[in-house]
Amino acid sequence: MSAPHPPPVPDAQREAIVAALDGRAIVLVGMMGAGKSQIGRRLSNLLQLPFFDTDKQIEQAQGQSISEIFAEKGEEAFRKSETTVLLELTARGSVVIAAGGGAFVHATPRHALLTSPALTLWLKVSAQTIYLRVKNSNQRPLLAGAGLRTKIDKLVAERDQLYLSADLAIDNNGKQPWVTCQAAIAALHGHLVSDP
Ligand code: S3P
Repeated sequence: MSAPHPPPVPDAQREAIVAALDGRAIVLVGMMGAGKSQIGRRLSNLLQLPFFDTDKQIEQAQGQSISEIFAEKGEEAFRKSETTVLLELTARGSVVIAAGGGAFVHATPRHALLTSPALTLWLKVSAQTIYLRVKNSNQRPLLAGAGLRTKIDKLVAERDQLYLSADLAIDNNGKQPWVTCQAAIAALHGHLVSDP
C-alpha cells in the first residue's frame, strides 16, 4: 500500500516559496536510506517543480547501476560523475534534487554544492532508521558485505557533522512522508519568506 499523499500546499505559500527561491535549486542531502528520493519527489510535486535524482541521472548517462560503476570504475570516478551531474542540475534553476548520500561529504561534490546558490536541506535520520530502511537492499556498494550496522554507525559518526552545514535540517525518523513534506515546506517558507 502506498503512503497517503500530503495535503496540497496553498497556492500563495507555494508561489511565495518558488518566487523567493529566485532560480535556486533545493538539494536534499543526508545518509543513504534517509528518504531523499521519496521526499524529494513528493516535495517537487507539492511545489510544482521538476525533480531529479543524481544517482538515477548517473545510471542513465552511463548505462550502468551505481554498484557496477563502483565495481568497474571505482568510487573516485563515481564522485567525479556525481559532481558533474550536481553542477549541471543545480544550474537548471528552481528544481528539486535528491543527491546521493556522499555528495555533501566528499570534497569535490561538497564544494560544488557549497559554492552553488542551491539551498541544501538535510534529511536527518538515526542509524537505526537507516539500518531498518537499507537492510534488505543490495543497491549500495558502501554498505555491502558483513557488519551492516557497524558500517552505518561509522558513516553516521563521520558524516552528520558535515550534513550539519546544510541550510535546513528536517527530521525524518518514523514519520509519514507527507508529515516530513509539510515540515520541509514550513522550513522552506520560514527560511525563504518569513525570515529570509
Ligand atoms: C552513497 C549513496 C548512494 C549512492 C552511492 C554512494 C554514499 O545514494 O550515491 O551508493 O556515499 O552515501 P543514496 O544516498 O541515494 O542511497
